[in-house]
Amino acid sequence: MRKPFVAGNWKMNTDSISSVELVREITQGCRGLAGERVDVAVYPPFVYLAPAVKSMGSGNISVGGQDLYFEQKGAFTGEISAAMLKDIGCVRVLCGHSERRHVIGEGDELINKKVIAAINGGLLPTLCIGELLEQRQAGQTEEVVRRHLNKGLEGLCDERVLAVTIAYEPVWAIGTGLTATPQQAQEVHAFIRGLLGELYNDDVAAELRIQYGGSVKPANAAELMVQADVDGLLVGGASLKAADFIAIIEASAG
Ligand code: PGA
Repeated sequence: MRKPFVAGNWKMNTDSISSVELVREITQGCRGLAGERVDVAVYPPFVYLAPAVKSMGSGNISVGGQDLYFEQKGAFTGEISAAMLKDIGCVRVLCGHSERRHVIGEGDELINKKVIAAINGGLLPTLCIGELLEQRQAGQTEEVVRRHLNKGLEGLCDERVLAVTIAYEPVWAIGTGLTATPQQAQEVHAFIRGLLGELYNDDVAAELRIQYGGSVKPANAAELMVQADVDGLLVGGASLKAADFIAIIEASAG
């Protein structure tokens, strides 16, 4: 049985005071749920990660980076390694978020190196995949998702891939208020699970969690989460309000 996994991607939001407050409110608000009935993570901006880890106290939520660089150390100005994230208490990291792919220009090969570096560094990566609006309209959703998944997981054996969470985030639904319908989400999630079965085996396909992301709110969380292959949610905008994020966590716990 896959435990629901709800995560908040704060993107380039919050400041030194509000980030700490948000972590405190979330930690308090989901006591008894987080870590037990649902796994909860937040991804604050790099500079607020260490304070976020500290302010979490004994709460059962995990903190992760929104990105990392694949090299271990050295002359890579502006970059952050897996070891640095781990050093300050991060457990998780996002790889290949659609804004990294489409705003910053990251490609599948780089994202694959990041996924591998995360696992080598003892972090749990979330590989984000998903099609653009024009790709969906051209009937290319499966082709895009297949490519993102195949390339993103390249070189990972059955055992190591178990560290990965997949986040399916249709780009047209991110930050637009346009959520995929539960049926649209389920269709692609089932397709992804099938691909995992082809790439690995039925056990891996049954074990890996696939989150949905794209305009998730308290009002649509439950209907997405009842879908057989939706195992969790990656939440952007609504994760910046503690009450909304907690409501989403509660809805996901069933
Ligand atoms: P959104 O972002 O919930 O604001 O659409 C989701 C994401 O980018 O992970």
